[in-house]
Amino acid sequence: MMFKALLTLSTVVPAVVASPAFHLHQKRSELETFIQNEKPVAHQGILNNIGADGKLVPGAYPGIVVASPTNGDPTNYFYTWTRDAALTLLDLIHDFLGGDSSLEPLIQQYITAQAKLQRVPNPSGTLSDGSGLGEPKFNVNITAFTGSWGRPQRDGPALRALALIDYGNYLISQGKQSKVQDNIWPIVQNDLSYVGQYWNQTGFDLWEEVDASSFFTTAAQYKSLIQGRVFATALGYQCEACALAPQILCHLQDYWNGTAVISNIPTNGRTGLDVNSVLATLYTFDSAAATCDDTTFQPCSARALSNHKLLVDSFRGIYGVNKGRTAGQAAAVGRYAEDVYFGGNPWYLATLAAAEQLYDALYQWDKQGRVSVTGVSLPFFHDLVANVTTGTYTKGSTKYSEITGAVRTYADGFVSIVQEYTPADGGLNEQFDRNTGAPVSVQHLTWSYAAFLTAVARRAGDVPPTWGVASPPPMPSQCARSSVPGTYVTPTPSPW
Ligand SMILES: *[C@@H]1O[C@H](CO)[C@@H](O)[C@H](O)[C@H]1NC(C)=O
Ligand SMILES: *[C@@H]1O[C@H](CO)[C@@H](O)[C@H](O)[C@H]1NC(C)=O
Ligand SMILES: *[C@@H]1O[C@H](CO)[C@@H](O)[C@H](O)[C@H]1NC(C)=O
Ligand SMILES: *[C@@H]1O[C@H](CO)[C@@H](O)[C@H](O)[C@H]1NC(C)=O
Repeated sequence: MMFKALLTLSTVVPAVVASPAFHLHQKRSELETFIQNEKPVAHQGILNNIGADGKLVPGAYPGIVVASPTNGDPTNYFYTWTRDAALTLLDLIHDFLGGDSSLEPLIQQYITAQAKLQRVPNPSGTLSDGSGLGEPKFNVNITAFTGSWGRPQRDGPALRALALIDYGNYLISQGKQSKVQDNIWPIVQNDLSYVGQYWNQTGFDLWEEVDASSFFTTAAQYKSLIQGRVFATALGYQCEACALAPQILCHLQDYWNGTAVISNIPTNGRTGLDVNSVLATLYTFDSAAATCDDTTFQPCSARALSNHKLLVDSFRGIYGVNKGRTAGQAAAVGRYAEDVYFGGNPWYLATLAAAEQLYDALYQWDKQGRVSVTGVSLPFFHDLVANVTTGTYTKGSTKYSEITGAVRTYADGFVSIVQEYTPADGGLNEQFDRNTGAPVSVQHLTWSYAAFLTAVARRAGDVPPTWGVASPPPMPSQCARSSVPGTYVTPTPSPW
């Protein structure tokens, strides 16, 4: 209701004046209104899905993040996925570090719950050799889900380590090193051990469909070992697995074909274009990176921008909702063009990811004081500024403003599409119908809300801390299939 009223108000105003500049201004202010209204809805939407107090997830154990409260109709997401939970916590921890201290008990409950989950024997295996850590989802009462599933999935441990390290670094900065050693390090050590031991084996991708090598997984694994090494050192520990980071970075280069990221190798009969790749750039984003580094696929890198164009273009012709949205205009984005799940629709989190990569890139250009257009990224920029040519444009110049202004308008366009297909109460499902734009699949997807909050945080220049891309260990000249057998300990956190 509140949404409807505000939107009506702002659509009344523009009839008075009608210049193109005014329309742009009006669109922007409607978008601002949407964002300000949706932020608390998304934040509450996340909290509603976390046990024990989340009001849509009765029965969920304290700190357990439920993927969606939808329990059967049209399908059942009433489980906790290690990946979705970690990505959600990365967002909540960011909010906590930004000043929302009310989130701390929930973060601690999440960590305690992860310690319990790591110990649960499950169809992927057990903790003793690490194999059980690759289990993708559990019942919300911390028991194993024993039905058949696409398992293992090897991104979960890496993502969980990233979330725990962010909170652990905060505790270290508060002089609470021993709390980190007792309650956080054992969980992180297990997850890093898992990455070091299993990174070079195939597993199911983040969409749980393809048993292959997955770009998103490899990127998350690389980052976890880079951050893990620094974290271990700060605690006075060794991380043997972390020495493999350069090998994983070497493997990450395999996914690049010259113009795009091939998200799964082998491709399973698809083109390889998949929002998997754009999501990965949101996590390889380093807010302190002095370059638009191609090897780590930074959001502003020529590679990531070329890939962004090819991916977004792949959805223009196939969705009815994209009719009239031609190259250079934002479009609704799904997982991959060949998708048939629920009929193959655009996803809120995918469309938001397309925006977020560009907000990250804008942050990087601003920080570097220049934007470079190369042969590889020219097609991306050409769609937005028709007469752009390769070269470096420095901040303060007209062309820099023109190019970055066009990228910002383009990025905002993706959020406007989400606005257009968000119902009046602000609730975000998983998908919206490819032809009508009506919400489909499960309701209140936790990841949809987290994706909204991170995208609009980046839009406002609110970025995560650096993770050390500026000074990584050198990449080997030849990739190797090395792995390190892990050390696994039983995590038993003491009270916080
Ligand atoms: C945990 O949840 C599962 C799935 O809902 C249920 O089958 C099982 O009985 C529960 N176990 C316990 C110990 O409550
Ligand atoms: C294992 O590593 C080698 C060397 O980087 C690479 O060629 C191969 O694709 C990797 N396989 C998997 C499943 O990660
Ligand atoms: C890379 O892969 C994409 C998707 O399959 C394809 O459209 C593109 O032409 C490929 N680029 C090169 C240089 O082969
Ligand atoms: C494109 O052409 C216009 C009109 O000549 C000019 O003002 C603008 O600076 C050019 N932009 C770029 C990026 O070259």
